[in-house]
Amino acid sequence: MTSQNKPLGVFSPFASLPEEDQHLVKSTWATAERAYIPRSNFPVGAAILAANERGETKVFTGCNVENQFFTATICAERNAATTAVNAGYRRFLKVALVCKKYPGGSPCGLCRQVIVEFAAHGEVLNTVDTDSNVRVFPAVELLPAACGEAVSFEQLSASDKRLVTDLEALSQRSYVPYSKRPRAAFFYATNSSGKTRRFRGVPDDNASYGGSELAETVAMRAARTAGFASKVTLVVTVEDPNTANPVDGKSLQVLREFGLDAKVILVGKNRSIVRSTVAELLPDSFGPDAVS
Ligand code: THU
Repeated sequence: MTSQNKPLGVFSPFASLPEEDQHLVKSTWATAERAYIPRSNFPVGAAILAANERGETKVFTGCNVENQFFTATICAERNAATTAVNAGYRRFLKVALVCKKYPGGSPCGLCRQVIVEFAAHGEVLNTVDTDSNVRVFPAVELLPAACGEAVSFEQLSASDKRLVTDLEALSQRSYVPYSKRPRAAFFYATNSSGKTRRFRGVPDDNASYGGSELAETVAMRAARTAGFASKVTLVVTVEDPNTANPVDGKSLQVLREFGLDAKVILVGKNRSIVRSTVAELLPDSFGPDAVS
């Protein structure tokens, strides 16, 4: 069974949008023209309507700016977001975007993480075609909660109990001088000979926060390096497995690359477990299909 990557939100024809929203969507196309995209040739434009402390509103735009070493690339949405915050406009009311070559392509996990930080009550307008029709949805839907029921430690099977205690033991190795949150991840993956292995990860903080590595990404990258990349399950410690945005958007974006069927097991501070999938935690995801 293949998981679906269903688009979020409600289809809204451009003509039906209020003038303010039409303006916002139009600016995404204009902004995408300025994308610096020597590596991907994949222009993206974002426009954010944001409010400052006095309730004044303004539109901020951003394009994607790539780098020869891929990871320093800044996406269009985060470019617009930081521009708005830099000007004192921290309350995002509307976040519009367009993937010019692939209308309908949605924000990546890193951008989602930044959008939800400032758009708790805002909405997203994702341009889905060249006629500027959009899909509209609350920004919080970008990083939802897992809806599976939490199973308490006492109710777990012996092997799941062992999983939790192993994870807790591993978290002791965290290097977290700045985030101060010891965490741990296991990543189960299968190689081309059908062999399955477990890879481990702990957070590796960095004085320049963006240089930090998360427990999940450490484990996932170790698996990839060893040639184990199919039938994957990410097991990860979280604060509370039943709240929205339980796992960092970057980790989900990395997991997404292993396929839409990727499984996730959330292990809460209270040692309860919730089972989920990348399709559930990163709905309408930006995946390999967008850029290939
Ligand atoms: N990109 C964005 O600007 N926003 C997203 O949400 C997804 C990806 C950019 C990054 C890179 O320059 C290109 O699109 C291909 O991923």
